[in-house]
Amino acid sequence: MGYSLFFPTFFLVCPLVSGFLSSEFIYPNFTATEYHFIDNDGAFLVSRNSTFKSAISNPGAQKTNFYLCVIHVESNTIIWSANRDAPISDSGVVSLTTNGITIADQGGVLRWSTPPLPSSVYALKLTELGNLILLDHSNGSLWESFHHPTDTIVTGQHLPVGTYLSSAVSDNNLSSGDYMLTISTSDALLQWHNQTYWKLSMDTEAYINSNYIVEYMAINRTGLYLFGQNESLVVIQVILSPADFRIAKLGASGHLTVSRYSGTKWDQEFFAPTDDCKTPFICGRVGLCNDGLSSGLSCSCPSGFHVVSQDCVPNNGSYYLPFSCNSSGFSYVGLGYGTEYFANDFSEPLRYHVNLSVCEDLCSGDCSCLGFFHGNSTGSCYVLESELGSVMSSNDAESDLVGYIKVLAGPSTNGVTGASSRRQKIPVAALVLLPFTGFFLLGALGFLWWKRWGLSKSKEIKLGRRNSHSSEDLDVFYIPGLPKRFDYDELEVATDNFKTQIGLGGFGAVYKGTLLDKTIVAIKKITNLGVQGRKEFCTEIAVIGNIHHVNLVRLKGFCAQGRKRLLVYEYMNHGSLDRTLFGSGPVLEWQERFDIALGTARGLAYLHNGCEHKIIHCDVKPENILLDDHLQPKISDFGLSKLLSPEQSGLFTTMRGTRGYLAPEWLTNSAISEKTDVYSFGMVLLELVSGRKNCLLRSQSHSMDDNESGGGHSSSSSGSGFGYYPLFALEMHEQGKYLELADPTLQGRVTREEAEKLVCVALCCLHEEPALRPNMVSVVGMLEGGIPIIQPIIESLNFLRFYGRRFTEASTLMELNGSTSYPLGNASRNTSGLHAVFSYVPSQQISGPR
Ligand SMILES: *[C@@H]1O[C@H](CO)[C@@H](O)[C@H](O)[C@H]1NC(C)=O
Ligand SMILES: *[C@@H]1O[C@H](CO)[C@@H](O)[C@H](O)[C@H]1NC(C)=O
Ligand SMILES: *[C@@H]1O[C@H](CO)[C@@H](O)[C@H](O)[C@H]1NC(C)=O
Ligand SMILES: *[C@@H]1O[C@H](CO)[C@@H](O)[C@H](O)[C@H]1NC(C)=O
Ligand SMILES: *[C@@H]1O[C@H](CO)[C@@H](O)[C@H](O)[C@H]1NC(C)=O
Ligand SMILES: *[C@@H]1O[C@H](CO)[C@@H](O)[C@H](O)[C@H]1NC(C)=O
Ligand SMILES: *[C@@H]1O[C@H](CO)[C@@H](O)[C@H](O)[C@H]1NC(C)=O
Ligand SMILES: *[C@@H]1O[C@H](CO)[C@@H](O)[C@H](O)[C@H]1NC(C)=O
Ligand SMILES: *[C@@H]1O[C@H](CO)[C@@H](O)[C@H](O)[C@H]1NC(C)=O
Ligand SMILES: *[C@@H]1O[C@H](CO)[C@@H](O)[C@H](O)[C@H]1NC(C)=O
Ligand SMILES: *[C@@H]1O[C@H](CO)[C@@H](O)[C@H](O)[C@H]1NC(C)=O
Repeated sequence: MGYSLFFPTFFLVCPLVSGFLSSEFIYPNFTATEYHFIDNDGAFLVSRNSTFKSAISNPGAQKTNFYLCVIHVESNTIIWSANRDAPISDSGVVSLTTNGITIADQGGVLRWSTPPLPSSVYALKLTELGNLILLDHSNGSLWESFHHPTDTIVTGQHLPVGTYLSSAVSDNNLSSGDYMLTISTSDALLQWHNQTYWKLSMDTEAYINSNYIVEYMAINRTGLYLFGQNESLVVIQVILSPADFRIAKLGASGHLTVSRYSGTKWDQEFFAPTDDCKTPFICGRVGLCNDGLSSGLSCSCPSGFHVVSQDCVPNNGSYYLPFSCNSSGFSYVGLGYGTEYFANDFSEPLRYHVNLSVCEDLCSGDCSCLGFFHGNSTGSCYVLESELGSVMSSNDAESDLVGYIKVLAGPSTNGVTGASSRRQKIPVAALVLLPFTGFFLLGALGFLWWKRWGLSKSKEIKLGRRNSHSSEDLDVFYIPGLPKRFDYDELEVATDNFKTQIGLGGFGAVYKGTLLDKTIVAIKKITNLGVQGRKEFCTEIAVIGNIHHVNLVRLKGFCAQGRKRLLVYEYMNHGSLDRTLFGSGPVLEWQERFDIALGTARGLAYLHNGCEHKIIHCDVKPENILLDDHLQPKISDFGLSKLLSPEQSGLFTTMRGTRGYLAPEWLTNSAISEKTDVYSFGMVLLELVSGRKNCLLRSQSHSMDDNESGGGHSSSSSGSGFGYYPLFALEMHEQGKYLELADPTLQGRVTREEAEKLVCVALCCLHEEPALRPNMVSVVGMLEGGIPIIQPIIESLNFLRFYGRRFTEASTLMELNGSTSYPLGNASRNTSGLHAVFSYVPSQQISGPR
C-alpha cells in the first residue's frame, strides 16, 4: 500500500487518533473495508493478548486479491481466510449482521457468507487461539473458523476425520490448490487429485502408538498427534521439542510442514514428504524427477518424451497427451524401465498376476485411465487416473515396473514438430531444483549404491534380461521404508574414526558420533555377524527401521558397504539402565523405577504384538534398556536376532555374556518364543526392585554393598547382599515379606503394596513353563492396574531353588580358586562353573531334583 510507509508510524505515535481501536469482539451491524482500517493494517479484530488479528488483507502486497483473514500478528502469517476462492478488490466490504458474516465486492456483489445460522448473532469474537467465533446471545458458538480450516491448523485446533486442509495456489493467491491433507480413521494422508503421495504412518518421524480409531489431528506443545476419542488416546505421534505456539501448514508446493515461531522467523520442525521426487507435480506432467548426486534434483523427460517449453511431449510429433476422456483413437508411449510413479507406493495395484496385455486392456477399457504401470515379475497392474503427475527414477534397481502413458494420435498442437520429429531424446534438465534438505545427497548416494548393487546382483540371477540402460534387473525387490543409508566414510568422520566407544554388545561395539547436521548418534559396528547378503540385511533393516514406538530406540539409518555393516541409532543421554541402576549416581526413585518397568513392558508388548512382524528381542537386559533425558526407557538392539541366519542363532547363547536373563528354554532345545523375553523382563523387574544384579558374587558385593549383615541369611541362597536374588525373592514372596526385597538405598521410600505388585508380576514372568508366563500385554495391564495381579505358581518356580543352590556352589568354588571376576557384558567364552550352571545344564537336570 502506498500509505503503509506513513500510516503505521502515525498509528504508533498517535494511536487514539485512528478512531478504530480494535477489540476481541465486534457486534452487528458492523462493516469494514480495507481502506477503513488501513491505519490498523486492515485489522478490525484483535485477540485479547494481540496474538492474532482479523483483517482484510492482500498477501504479497499484490493489488488484486483481498481476503478476510485471521493473521498471526508477530509473524504476519495468514492462518485462515474466509473467501479464499472468492477474493474481493480493495473496495470490497466485510459486514457482520445478525445473520452472520458477508463479504461483498464493489457494487455489493456477494462473494462469500457464513451458512444460515440457527439463531441470530450477538457478537463476533477472535479468540486467543486464533478462532473466529460467531456467538449467540447466551455466548454459545454458532459458527467457528476452526471448523472450516483452509491450509493451516494452529496449536489447539482440531482437524477431525473426514475434514481436510487444502493447499493454496501460491503464497499470494489463496485459492484452493491441488494438494490435500485428509484425515482417515487410521492415518493422515497427503493427496493430489485423489492420489496419495504420503502417509503419516509411513513417515520416519512418526511413532505409531496404538490402533484406536482416529478422530482428529492436532498439534500441541509437544508435537503433532493423531488422537482417538480424546487426547488420552494417541494413535500416531510426531514428537517435537516443546513450543507454546506452532502451526501445521500444507504449503502450495504440496509439503506438510510444522513450524514454530522463534520471535524473528519460523523454524521448521517437520517436513513431509522429505523425498521431493515424491511430490506429485514436482516436474510437471510426465516430467521425470531425478535425484542428482551433488546437483540436487533435476527434471527431464522420460524416454519416449522430450521437452517443449518445460513440458514433456511425446517424441512422435503426431501424438499428444489427452485433455479429456477419449475412448477411441489412442495408443501408448512407454516410459521404459527404471521409472516409478509416486502413487504406486500408496495404492494397491488394480490387479495382481496379470500380464502386460491384460493390464493394457484394463486401461484401454476405462476412458478415464491415463496410463498404467506393470510389474512383469509380480504381474501387478497399476492404473493412473484423475490426473497425470510427474514420474521418478525408481529407487529400486531391481524393479521391473514399466510405465505406459496414453496418447492420442492427431495433428500436433505444438507447432514444433520439426524439432520433435528428431528421434533422439533430448536429455535436458528442464529445471534444476535446489535441494530442500541435506537429505538428497544421501538419497542420491543411496540410489547409486542400489544401482551398483543391482548390477552386481544381476550376475547371480540366471534370468534372461534386456540390455537397455535402465534394465539391470527384472525381479522385483521392493523394500518400503528402508531407513537412511549412510556412507562408511561419513560414519568414520562422524565418529572421528571410531574414537569414543560407549558400549559393547553381543553384535559389536557402539560408538558415539555426530552427523553433519549436528545430531548426536550411537553407531553400532556389527562384527559378530556371519556373512549375510546385503539384500537379506536390508530386508531386515527395513523391518526394524519401520518400528517406531516411544519405548524403542529409533534406528536412524544404516550402512552396508562391502562387508561392513553399521547401524545408526538415536543417542540416549542417560545411557543404559545398568549404569543408572547399579552405578554410583543418584538413587533411582521408586516411581522412576516403576515408570521404567512400565515403559519397558510397553516397548516389548509393541514388539510382540504391535507391529506387522512379531519381533522377539532375545536379549532383554538392563544394558539394552536405554534412558532418555526424562528417564523414559527405550529398548535397544531389538530385531537384531533377525539378522542371524537359522544356523547362527545357535550362537546366541555363546555370544551373549549375561546368562542371568536367559530363560530355561535357551538351555534346552525347546522353542524360543516371545515368552522368552517375558522371562528376561521378569529378571529385569527384580533388579529394578532390588537395585542390584540378580547374580551377585560375594566378592562383588564387597564393593557394591558395605553392610553385608543386612538381610537374615536364613538359607544358603538368600541375603540381600549377594547370592541368587530371584530365589531370595521367591522365599520372601512365600513369607509375604516384600519390603525385605526393596532396594535398601531407597530407605523405605516404597510401600509394601507396590513392592508386592512388582515382585508378583516378576515371579509370574519367571515361570519355568513358557505357557504359564503372562504375555507382555497382560504385564502392561497388571502394571497399569487395569488387570488384577495374578499370583505366581510356586510349582513353576521351584527350579529357582536349584539354580540358587548351584549358584552358591559355583560362587564358592570361584572364590576358592581366587577368581573374582564374573564375566559380565562381554562375549567371553570362559567356561567357568557359573557358565555351566546358567547355560549348558540340560533341562532334565534342571527340572530333575524338584
Ligand atoms: C442491522 O441491519 C439490518 C439490515 O441490514 C437491519 O434490519 C437491522 O435493524 C440492523 N440492526 C441494528 C442493530 O442496527
Ligand atoms: C494472555 O497471555 C498471558 C501471558 O502470556 C496468559 O497468561 C493468558 O492466559 C493469555 N490470555 C488468554 C486469553 O489466553
Ligand atoms: C458473554 O461473554 C462476555 C465476555 O466473556 C461477557 O461479558 C458476557 O457477560 C457473556 N454473556 C453471557 C450471556 O454469558
Ligand atoms: C488464483 O488461482 C486461481 C486458481 O488457479 C485462478 O483461477 C486465479 O486466476 C488466480 N488469481 C490470480 C489473481 O492470479
Ligand atoms: C476424489 O474421489 C471422490 C470420490 O471417489 C470424488 O468425489 C472426488 O471428486 C475426487 N476428487 C478429485 C480431486 O478428483
Ligand atoms: C478419554 O476417552 C477414554 C476412552 O473413552 C475415557 O476412558 C477417558 O476418560 C477420556 N478422557 C477424557 C479426559 O475425556
Ligand atoms: C500433547 O498431547 C499429548 C498426547 O495427549 C500429551 O501427552 C501431552 O502432554 C500434550 N502436551 C501438552 C503440552 O499439552
Ligand atoms: C508416429 O505415430 C504415428 C501414428 O500412430 C505412426 O503412424 C508413425 O509411424 C509414428 N512415427 C514414428 C517415427 O514412430
Ligand atoms: C478423441 O480422439 C479422436 C481421435 O484422435 C479425436 O478425433 C477426438 O477429437 C478426441 N475427442 C476428444 C474429446 O478429445
Ligand atoms: C495374457 O493373459 C491372458 C489371460 O490370462 C491371455 O489370454 C493372453 O494370451 C496373455 N497374453 C500374453 C501375451 O501372454
Ligand atoms: C515376464 O516374466 C515372464 C515370466 O514371469 C518371462 O517369461 C518374460 O520373459 C518376462 N517378460 C519381460 C518383458 O521381461
